[in-house]
Amino acid sequence: MKPLRKIIFPAAGMGTRFLPATKASPKEMLTIVDKPLIQYGVEEALSAGMDQIIMVTGRGKRAIEDHFDISAELEANLKRAGKSALYKEVSRIARMAEVVYLRQKEALGLGHAVLCARHWVGDEAFGVSLADELIVHSKPAMQQLREVYEATGKSVVGLIQVPADQVSKYGIVAYEAEASGLLRLTDMVEKPAAEDAPSRMAIVGRYIFTPRLMEILADVKPGAGGEFQLTDAIALLAKEEPVYGVVLEGQRFDAGNPEGFLMANTLLGLQHEQYGESLRKLLKAHL
Ligand code: G1P
Repeated sequence: MKPLRKIIFPAAGMGTRFLPATKASPKEMLTIVDKPLIQYGVEEALSAGMDQIIMVTGRGKRAIEDHFDISAELEANLKRAGKSALYKEVSRIARMAEVVYLRQKEALGLGHAVLCARHWVGDEAFGVSLADELIVHSKPAMQQLREVYEATGKSVVGLIQVPADQVSKYGIVAYEAEASGLLRLTDMVEKPAAEDAPSRMAIVGRYIFTPRLMEILADVKPGAGGEFQLTDAIALLAKEEPVYGVVLEGQRFDAGNPEGFLMANTLLGLQHEQYGESLRKLLKAHL
């Protein structure tokens, strides 16, 4: 088994839940305290040993490429001005990972975005991470998945429990607990009505797949919303070979909409060394 190093970041979505902020800027560049969402995702992947990164982007997403690129002019300016902490941070970001970019030319769905990276993935297992799902925990979410992948050699999907009135926003899984305590996924459905949902366990944007997933994706038919759904391909994979679910530990924010974004900024702001105290004072004064 080759070591798990590859990870796909689908980043071609239009960010309609966050308009007008995302009209001209990628939603992946929305900032939580002082870093864009996509940087949180990349750092999480790196800390789980996944250092070969492919971003599947689309039109209007250049800022993501610039963020992870070397800006010689900026680095020279910071150095000259003696701003050494900022210089170090800016040059660290540009060198932290091997990132390649590929364009999804049409918005045909998450499954299609992942399939775009098929040739890059080849015959290796790979991760998929949705950067607008921010999961904060001392053990990074991808590492939580990786441990199950390493123990089983099978595909693993990150899950969280959601209230019944939220199931229609997610892929929802059916599962059985194995004697080992692992959850084996038996089926899943993309964005079901509450009465059709097999459980309240939602897929939360972190995945590790065996390479077989790509072959299945290549044949999947359009599903919910007329899009090629990753969830439909995982459901087919789960009929062929075990697919496990991991209920993720940590605080999770759907930062791709204003409410989750504000909550993430507030929590991480309160925890921030430099800004926490003044934010706490402001909140206290207004509660
Ligand atoms: C996607 C997936 C869905 C998953 C969700 C998590 O949906 O299709 O299965 O539950 O991400 O955020 P989207 O939010 O892109 O519509």
